[in-house]
Amino acid sequence: MFKYLLYGLVVIVTAGLFATTWHLYKVAQKNKKEMAPYQGEAVSVDGSFGKVLVVYYSLTGHTKDIAERIASKTQADLYEIKTADKIDTTPWFYLKVRSQLKNGKYPALIGDMPDFLKYDWVFVGFPVWWYTAATPGLSFLEKADFKGRKVVPFSTQGSNPGTFFKDFAARAKNADLQPYASFNNLPEKYNAAVDNKIAVWLNNLLK
Ligand SMILES: Cc1cc2nc3c(=O)[nH]c(=O)nc-3n(C[C@H](O)[C@H](O)[C@H](O)COP(=O)(O)O)c2cc1C
Repeated sequence: MFKYLLYGLVVIVTAGLFATTWHLYKVAQKNKKEMAPYQGEAVSVDGSFGKVLVVYYSLTGHTKDIAERIASKTQADLYEIKTADKIDTTPWFYLKVRSQLKNGKYPALIGDMPDFLKYDWVFVGFPVWWYTAATPGLSFLEKADFKGRKVVPFSTQGSNPGTFFKDFAARAKNADLQPYASFNNLPEKYNAAVDNKIAVWLNNLLK
């Protein structure tokens, strides 16, 4: 009996490892294809956005990295969304986020809201959690009134943004929404290409 349980377990673990490896391989292939147009010479940002604010929430640093790159290319002020309670990424945390999304009860935030009227453009970026915007980002959108500013959403994710941008658009009150960009977490070898992707996106926004 024990022997068969053990065989069953070995089969399940092997299938799981195979499926994960296959998924990672497919994602790597997709990233390579998507980033190919951005390889090569550095692209510069031609033109000025005026006064820019980059708002972001980041738990593990990926969104912060993209926010900082956007800010450095647009000479923007940065605003970090902060939760009242510290978030620990235990396995329970994933389940907690699911129930927050189900109940529509998002984490409390600390700090004053930015004064959007001071800015011409407001970039707003969050990580993707469970195929939508991270719940601290949803808290921010609940509190924010963009007062007619040009608002540019961006996301970072493993590989699948799900309904992030649709959900963002539905919640961004009084935003003059502009074309978004979405950034998969990529290995360091893509660093320069990511910079070019941001620059191309920024140049298109200025057109
Ligand atoms: C609770 C949770 C759920 C996530 N769900 C998704 C998802 O649905 N799709 C995806 O591609 N990545 C998902 N991820 C990965 C994050 O979106 C990705 O690592 C993101 O870049 C993290 O941003 P940060 O480092 O700024 O916190 C999830 C991560 C967490 C913590």
